[in-house]
Amino acid sequence: MPIRALVIDDDFAGRRNHYHRLAHGSNGESFLELRPATVPLQPDQIANLCKQVQVGLIDIFLDPKGDAEPLEIVPGVNVLTLIHEQNPRLPIFVVSSHWDSLNMPIYQELIRRKQVKGGFSLRLLEDTSECGRVRFELERAVKEAEGLAAISLNPNEDLLLLHLSDLQVGATWVAEKDAKAAGDRLVNEVFQALPTSISGNATAPHLLVVTGDVAERGEPAELRAGFGLLSKLRSRLEISREGCFVVPGNHDVSLALASSHLIDYSFGSPFAVEAEPRNPRTAATTRERGLDRFGLVPFQEACSAFTGRGDWEPRVDFEEETRSPGWFHSHALSALGISVIGINTVTRLGPENPASATVPQAVVNQLVSHLDAFQRHEPGRTDLVQLVLLHHSPWPGIGDRTLHASGGDYLLSQLERFGDCIVLFGHIHTPLTNVRTYNDRTHRQALYASPSTPSLPASDRPEDSLRGFQLITLQRESDRVVAAKVQQFEYSGYGFRVRDDARFRRDVHSGWVAQP
Ligand SMILES: [Fe+2]
Repeated sequence: MPIRALVIDDDFAGRRNHYHRLAHGSNGESFLELRPATVPLQPDQIANLCKQVQVGLIDIFLDPKGDAEPLEIVPGVNVLTLIHEQNPRLPIFVVSSHWDSLNMPIYQELIRRKQVKGGFSLRLLEDTSECGRVRFELERAVKEAEGLAAISLNPNEDLLLLHLSDLQVGATWVAEKDAKAAGDRLVNEVFQALPTSISGNATAPHLLVVTGDVAERGEPAELRAGFGLLSKLRSRLEISREGCFVVPGNHDVSLALASSHLIDYSFGSPFAVEAEPRNPRTAATTRERGLDRFGLVPFQEACSAFTGRGDWEPRVDFEEETRSPGWFHSHALSALGISVIGINTVTRLGPENPASATVPQAVVNQLVSHLDAFQRHEPGRTDLVQLVLLHHSPWPGIGDRTLHASGGDYLLSQLERFGDCIVLFGHIHTPLTNVRTYNDRTHRQALYASPSTPSLPASDRPEDSLRGFQLITLQRESDRVVAAKVQQFEYSGYGFRVRDDARFRRDVHSGWVAQP
């Protein structure tokens, strides 16, 4: 089936041959079904067109000075914003009629802001290999958007999720070669622990979720070793990149990079320390600037290489500053009945400082308005289960450690209306699974689960001696998640074994309910 492509080009007739070269192969096969729109368009026409296509090809005017808005359909309306509001999952590609347009900073900025998925030059399509490359990119973006990427299940097949947390590579394995050997052992141990099917094959999970603290001090060598271990595990279990999700933990912050920024700041404005309201060294600041901008850079890079996505790449946020994002949302698996939300709870320096774990209200509001736009487009999929991943518990009083993400209760009270949540977190190194109300004013319950650490304990953390991880089975009926089983694996001296097995079902009124 050819991909349905919306084309917005003010000179489609003049460039028809270029578009046809992309749309049709030399043997007559159709790759794209072109649906050119007549420019200028009215916003309501865009709304209709967006719902009928799988990809958008837009010839926008890229101003070399970078200060012109992308193609205006009607004065004052930005076509990219309008399309995103109508269909947030529609992948957009910029079409350039000048071969060098894609080198312009404004194009890079659109990519960085995630407003467009990619771009190509019409003139270069005369080259067959370039034409093939563009087709491949378009097809991949469409598959990703439609959740068909690499995980396809029958409508009633279980979805298995392996949940690891707090590997803290570097705590006990200082040298990289030690980390590699220990990592290989851990991969074997986890692999061998998974239940075997009748055929004798390990029941391979479809998803791998890691809720932070991959490294001990956020150092590049630790992150390399940590994500290297996870990559081995992923390939051993044949989990696709699309099925891997990671959120940062407090140990993933490079203190060296974050603090070097603070020193630079003090040298740059030594007398403004008390007067500057955003001074990162004063207790009343809203965010740690150095942490936001630099502290997570090695983590972002390692994580992007692992997942193949830019979930934590710096982008321009609601305050119009470039920084690590506070969240990501993946709808790539919505065809399977779930959507994935990652929250960065690591917002301040000082891992053991209660103020170091925060979900700022502005971040929650930004996420909620994104989810609202998403749901407007897909009203039929309100029964999705939301996998909410964070490093710290969003609620106080869970586990022995009291540290939780402040603002987490506000987050959960807002997420309640987007579907039943499964909240996965770590940090406390304690295996826990239960249900809990989203807030004090509702009786509806979320399911939460936290695994122990699978790694060997550091000598200064004897409480970590309980090694473990979780396997979560989501039972599905007609592509809808109806029940969940959480198995806690614990290290017994000979290997990981199932210690606890908790079952839950989804209830239309109460959300997640524990089963006896
Ligand atoms: Fe932690």
